[in-house]
Amino acid sequence: MPLVPVDVLLEQADREGFGVGAFNANNMEIVQAILRAAELENSPVIMQASQGAINYAGLEFITGMVKTAAESSKIPVALHLDHGTDFVQVVKCIRSGFSSVMYDGSKLPLEENIAMTRKVLEMATPIGVSVEAELGKIGGTEDNVSVSEKEARYTDPEEARYFVEQTGIKSLAIAIGTAHGQYQGEPKLDLKRLAQIKSLVKIPIVLHGSSGVPDAAVKEAIKLGICKVNIDTNIREAFVGGMRKVLDAKPDEIDPRKILGPAREAAIEIIREKMRVFGSSGKA
Ligand code: G3H
Ligand code: 13P
Ligand code: ZN
Repeated sequence: MPLVPVDVLLEQADREGFGVGAFNANNMEIVQAILRAAELENSPVIMQASQGAINYAGLEFITGMVKTAAESSKIPVALHLDHGTDFVQVVKCIRSGFSSVMYDGSKLPLEENIAMTRKVLEMATPIGVSVEAELGKIGGTEDNVSVSEKEARYTDPEEARYFVEQTGIKSLAIAIGTAHGQYQGEPKLDLKRLAQIKSLVKIPIVLHGSSGVPDAAVKEAIKLGICKVNIDTNIREAFVGGMRKVLDAKPDEIDPRKILGPAREAAIEIIREKMRVFGSSGKA
């Protein structure tokens, strides 16, 4: 079927109390792995591309691959820009065919984040493209920029209420103790803060940096209002792990298909596991 906006998937998730996985896609094998996992689990799915992924693969390649995947399947698939920090990049993605964008103004002062988020919404909403915003600073590395534990700033519930009221945003990424990339220790989520935010904003909430968060904590967060769960690092680990396994066993292998095929299989497995944890299996 044609690409669907993320909001449509999140409305169902919010209503039925599950989480939709948003998996970062960087190349053809990962796009195929995400679709295959979704089909095997009969799960709705979000494929997302960061600015780094777009620079690596090319915007038209990313859009083409994900559109082809969606159109070849009965599974609802959304194509989402992950952490768009540049208005022009957001416009380019929409023109290219993305069904959803994240405008990440979390590093801006509050009123500037509100103004820019509104500008993106004014452009995207009339043409049926959904928008995710971010409030608070998530730790870790994105687009090669690192936010240390100290710099990370948890989302303030009252500020979240004000932000949603001022922008009319339909989904919001928050900072409650997760970080992008691999964790040093075990992350501790501020679930009380999540519950407070959800009681004030009533819209689907997005969890970033979800690889490495224990399954039980993710499930708890979904019960409290998380509807979109972002996963990148776990796919990278599985995919590169699959490549390594082949190359360790056969260091002279030169056929990329024999290296990338098993990597794709490993990615399918981890994505399926995540879908089961998020409760999205059987929800397509
Ligand atoms: O938010 C971070 C994602 O894992 C994307 O990472 O900017 O290296 O593609 P990336
Ligand atoms: P992880 O790489 O920590 O899973 O985070 C992914 C993410 O939040 C993408 O926006
Ligand atoms: Zn993120």
